Parts: sequence; C-alpha cells; structure tokens
Amino acid sequence: MPRVFISRDLPFPALDRLKEQHEVDVWEQRTPPPPDDFLARAREADALLTCVTENVDGDFLDRAAPITAVANLAVGTDNIDLEAAKQRGIPVGNTPGVLTDATADIAFALLLGIARRITEGDREVREGRWAPWHPGHMLGGDLADNTLGIIGWGRIGQAMARRGEGFGMRVVHHSRSSGIDLDELLETSDYVSLHTPLTPETRHLMGAAQFARMKQTAYFINTSRGGTVDQDALRAALVDGEIAGAGLDVTDPEPLPGDDPLLTAPNLLVVPHVGSATVRTRSRMADLAVDNLLAALAGDEMPNRVA
Ligand code: DGY
Repeated sequence: MPRVFISRDLPFPALDRLKEQHEVDVWEQRTPPPPDDFLARAREADALLTCVTENVDGDFLDRAAPITAVANLAVGTDNIDLEAAKQRGIPVGNTPGVLTDATADIAFALLLGIARRITEGDREVREGRWAPWHPGHMLGGDLADNTLGIIGWGRIGQAMARRGEGFGMRVVHHSRSSGIDLDELLETSDYVSLHTPLTPETRHLMGAAQFARMKQTAYFINTSRGGTVDQDALRAALVDGEIAGAGLDVTDPEPLPGDDPLLTAPNLLVVPHVGSATVRTRSRMADLAVDNLLAALAGDEMPNRVA
C-alpha cells in the first residue's frame, strides 16, 4: 500500500479519505519538520503532502527518491522547484480557487486596518490613553473615490478589485499581460496591493525605487509572498515617510522574529500569514490536496497539477 507523508496534521475530513486508501504518516507537531526529519520521513514515503514551510528542490527529491507525487497545501508553489520536479517526472499539485475570497478578505482587512488605524486605536483604548474626542485625532485615509492599484491580475487580485469597487474605489491594475504600466500605477494609486506569485522575476519587485514612486499619502498591502518586497527598502520608506503605511500578511523570513528591525517602522500592520486561514477555506484546500494525491497515486492526472 503506498505511503504518504503529511508534513502537518490536517484536522479536516479530507485526511480520512486519504487514510481509507493509503498508509498515512503525519508529522504531529505544530512546527514544521526540521529539514533532516523531513528528508528522513520522505524517504519512507511514496508521496508527499507539503505546506509552504517545506522546501522541496531537486537535491531533496533525489535524496528522498522514489517520491512519485507532491501535493502542496497552497496555491503558491514557490517552496517547490517545479522545474526539478518536472525533470524527474514527479507531478506537483496546488490548491487554486478555494482560497481566493479568504485571501482577498485579509488583503482588504489590512487595507482598512492600516488606513483607519484600527490596531493603533485598540492599543490606545487598552492602554488607558483614550482622550476625549478631538477633530484632529487619529485621522486616516479615505477609500471612496480613491485609487486602488492592484499588481498581479490573477484570481486574488481580481477578487481584491471587486472589494475595492464595493467600497467606491477606482481600480487600476498592472500585470505581465494587461493593465497599466507599473510606474504609472505606483504614482497614481492611493493604495497599492500586491498579488503576484513569487518567481525569480517578481523577487523584490517592490524596492526602494518603487516605494519612492508611490505617493507619500499612499498605503502598501502585501498578501502574496514576503520575497516580492525588499523589506529594508519598505522599512526605510515607512521611516522616511515616503509612504503613509503598510499592511502585510507575508514577510521574509517567516516567522518574522519579534526583534526584526521592520517591526520598529511606523504605521505598519503585520499578521502572521493567515490569508487562507478560515475553517471552510483550509478544509477545501485539504480536499484539493488530497484529490491531487489520490489521483496521482491511482496513476491519473492530478486535477490541479502545476508541474
Ligand atoms: C497559499 O495558498 O499560497 C497561501 O499562502 C498559503 O495559505
């Protein structure tokens, strides 16, 4: 009976479907398997169900051989060397579609949260610093009639656009194949939201030159991958007042250490990579990952194959 190694416990019905047909070895700890443990367990398996925290490259696949399939519990697959998997004839699957709304929701929550200073206000109240109402107190950014610039025009970028339109925003976008020029987007947007996959081309897509182009009153949102942003440049842009604020669901590295210099920047809201963290979404992601594995182990095409 083929054996599947799952790099984290999945508290969802999908796991039972997998267990009905295959031997399943689950990494039971909350934290990811350290690389040596991951390799040791993968060597005993025929297929893998991985999370964004596991790195799978050509060397790993050779040392873990024979792995016949990898299902990533994510739409992003930058933790997997797809070319290396393809060269070795190992199918890789992802979980597209089901996390679109949840991720766009977090992006929009960050946008509202940073523009309207939600965590700052909450801290002020809890710390007993709530002073009487004042016309100039805690002023933030408007949404209606302001421009939302979306970089990356895939499912999540378009879902973000719909949310912006619902709040009366003007939406522009930039992608490889459509929309306006990136510089024009940066110069004209009041909010810039990043929705590109992390690839060699998009690594540090947002750097010092890009933040310098943004309006000083503009906010930056990132729910894609931390590696798309030069974090030192983002910190400098916030400290120097080149932009008004930033909301991040993703950083580089993750987890971001509590003493990372980025966290000393003003007007920064950071949440711990929870874009897809709703009960229904994670359960659906588990379903798609298991569907991918079941198909591959039965010798069929993965329903969501990326390599
Ligand atoms: C993804 O699916 O790529 C997310 O970042 C993980 O939830």
